Amino acid sequence: MYKKIHLDAPNIGELEKLYLNRAIDSGYVSSAGPWVSGLEEKCAAYLHTAKAVATNSGTSALHIALHELGIGKGDEVIVPALTFIATVNPVVYAGATPVFADVDIRTWNMDPRAVEDAVTDKTRAVIPVHLYGNPCDMDEINRIARKYGLHVIEDAAESLGARYRGVFTGTLGDLGCFSLNGNKTITAGGGGIVTGNDVQRLNHIKFLINQARGEQGYHTEIGFNYRMTNLQAAVGLAQFERLEEFLAKKRAFNKAYRDALGHINGIRFQEEYKGAESSYWFTCIIVEDASVRRELQEGLKDRGIPTRRLFPPVSELPPYRGCRFIDRGNSRYIYERGICLPCSTLNNPEDIEYVCRALSEFYYEGSFVYAPVK
Ligand SMILES: Cc1ncc(COP(=O)(O)O)c(C=O)c1O
Repeated sequence: MYKKIHLDAPNIGELEKLYLNRAIDSGYVSSAGPWVSGLEEKCAAYLHTAKAVATNSGTSALHIALHELGIGKGDEVIVPALTFIATVNPVVYAGATPVFADVDIRTWNMDPRAVEDAVTDKTRAVIPVHLYGNPCDMDEINRIARKYGLHVIEDAAESLGARYRGVFTGTLGDLGCFSLNGNKTITAGGGGIVTGNDVQRLNHIKFLINQARGEQGYHTEIGFNYRMTNLQAAVGLAQFERLEEFLAKKRAFNKAYRDALGHINGIRFQEEYKGAESSYWFTCIIVEDASVRRELQEGLKDRGIPTRRLFPPVSELPPYRGCRFIDRGNSRYIYERGICLPCSTLNNPEDIEYVCRALSEFYYEGSFVYAPVK
């Protein structure tokens, strides 16, 4: 078999081991300890935001953001239909109702016109998701939010390092939420980050995620155990120091895929809004002829190339069927045709070239004609 190609496996090395060992040696293995604040400071400095708070997941980051903004029962929150389900579940944890807005056919991101059509007098917030690292049309989303008095919580789980008009995603709304799950551009083994410029809010979030524990263990509110551990933060900080290296690799992978496949009739790439610079967490393609998608994925698998379908529209999943949906048919269209290509930073340029050759063969020959390399 050809050398192993990785879809989204994490890239963990000597620096992570070094920092993790230091954290273990310090005796601080749980949520106390210097690595958590170190990661928070590094993150805030990198993003040019006033403060960052580390959490135990991107999902808990989104939940605590909604909670902090006072969103709850009777409120509606607008979410894109095409996203990972973890964008939407926290809306329900908070007691609010998700309303789905369809995505734009070119960028696969929340369509601002659908967002505006989704607004009612119960709408309190909107959660733009920078899908696969690709920034949303934040000017339009913020304009709509201002017009109707809505909070903007960015789901930047997939977009660390992406920018919109030169400003990092996750710092363009009221609060931004990142994920440090194992498949993301950088990982802490698991974890999340909440960012923002309102220091008072961020301080309150820091308090809430630690069981709302006050002086002498006295509790004035119902808090959460959403703390990141010192061990996770040590790994996360090592990964942060390698972020530029990973972003450069993912950018190069995206360019290689586009250069090799961009001119093929029948393949389309996710497009970027004007002023957007994706972090290219994932490079995904649309296979225009939906009937060949499965054959293509299976042929690639036979050749040692792992791929994955895009997220199924959350509006179609059992817990969310029947929710209000401003549907233009785009989320389903993209889902039926979309494939995520190998993008782990464990791959090297030759691996991506190999993937491109296999895809080219399929398209130029009309199917896979050569036997898989053993
Ligand atoms: C768009 C999106 N939102 C939220 C999450 C949740 O992050 P986590 O897995 O860290 O809870 C993820 C990733 O898993 C995601 O891709």
